[in-house]
Amino acid sequence: MTAWKEKRRILLGVSGGISAYKVPDFVRALRHGGNEVDCILTEAAERFVSPMVLATLSERRVWLERDFLSDDGGPQIPHIRLAERAEACGVVPCTADTLRKIAQGEAGTLLGATLLALRAPVVLFPAMNVHMWDHPATQASVTRCRELGYRVIEPEEGYLACGYEGRGRLPSKEVILEELWRALSPKCDLEGVRVLVTAGPTLEFLDPVRFLSNPSSGKMGYAMARTAWYRGAEVCLVTGPVPLDPPPGVECVRVTSALEMHDAVLRKLEWATVIVKAAAVGDYRAAQQETRKIKRESRERLCLDLEQNPDIAAAVGSRKRADQFLLGFAAETDDLIAHAQSKMRRKGLDMIVANPVSGQRNAFGAEDNSVVVIDKSGVVAEFSGNKESVADSLWDEVGKRLRGKGA
Ligand code: PMT
Repeated sequence: MTAWKEKRRILLGVSGGISAYKVPDFVRALRHGGNEVDCILTEAAERFVSPMVLATLSERRVWLERDFLSDDGGPQIPHIRLAERAEACGVVPCTADTLRKIAQGEAGTLLGATLLALRAPVVLFPAMNVHMWDHPATQASVTRCRELGYRVIEPEEGYLACGYEGRGRLPSKEVILEELWRALSPKCDLEGVRVLVTAGPTLEFLDPVRFLSNPSSGKMGYAMARTAWYRGAEVCLVTGPVPLDPPPGVECVRVTSALEMHDAVLRKLEWATVIVKAAAVGDYRAAQQETRKIKRESRERLCLDLEQNPDIAAAVGSRKRADQFLLGFAAETDDLIAHAQSKMRRKGLDMIVANPVSGQRNAFGAEDNSVVVIDKSGVVAEFSGNKESVADSLWDEVGKRLRGKGA
């Protein structure tokens, strides 16, 4: 786990909607890494989730409405103590009534008073019946909460517990956790930066059922996208086919071949401030893609006629504006630094991340990576660790250079 996701103090406000029954699962997941989770339940929430379950899983006292302004012998009244402890807060689920109260700054409940006293970031996860969500009164509360600086995550569409189908579902656990990590991120230096990341392999089909590809899992590229989003960037991820979920706030463009990736990147190039080329792009494709399956019986030997794919990084390198920053990756089996330096020059990159892809230190598919960072002045840094912490360190390097460009 990335170091800053450990030993944090998170506050969960739980209001009285059916999806409150899912909160114990969120508490369990958040507890990994020694994080402390305080829960405040509204009076209605107690009907949907047991305080004892939450207290057992969090190994902490659970705060109830009757504790508001109670004298439990502590030096501070509970809402101030809870507000001061929390490094981030999620209200999950956030009912229409709780949303309205937050929008109006109501302080007559333990949760309301705590939210007013909090200075940490707060994320609201509304969940309710579709018509309640669509109602102008609810939408006005959403707008007001956003004006007040709360991050409001739209509910998802799907089947609702009330029997309706439509928008109103609480987002998945993964989305809720990612949003809370983003709120807890120690750095938000990429606010206002637009990041375009490529990730994963490309598939170059020979016939409808066979393709040429490589072992890229997409983990490094997704880690670059995720950490940029945590740090406040707007992110577009152009990804080859991999079984990973992109972070929730990231625009995701799915492609298969190098040609599709090339077109997707060039379409988005104007928009981007930083372009990260972490994808392992197939250098060759079939000169003639068969429309029918090649039959084994029909050929004793099969010779492939391949033609070169466009070099996407080089295309970006030759087109990019002075205010754009292009970061490439080099997957090398030997002469790591020399080959990476030559690629950086040839493709017009501002910086390149060289990673080994052979032997014991093989970046392909692994959870960890060990990289050497090179810019025009030579080797500038080396990082090792899980791909998310390596990505975070790479953003530190990019951030310094963006500030140098006046971004
Ligand atoms: O996905 P993972 O399993 O997490 O593995 C991560 C990784 C090893 C794939 C990643 O860290 C990495 O090194 N990506 C680049 C792999 C690669 O294709 O390197 P290359 O040396 O062939 O290409 C150099 C650069 O040119 C890369 O930025 C590549 O995206 C780009 N390129 C290459 C060919 C091509 N036709 N177009 C390109 O844009």
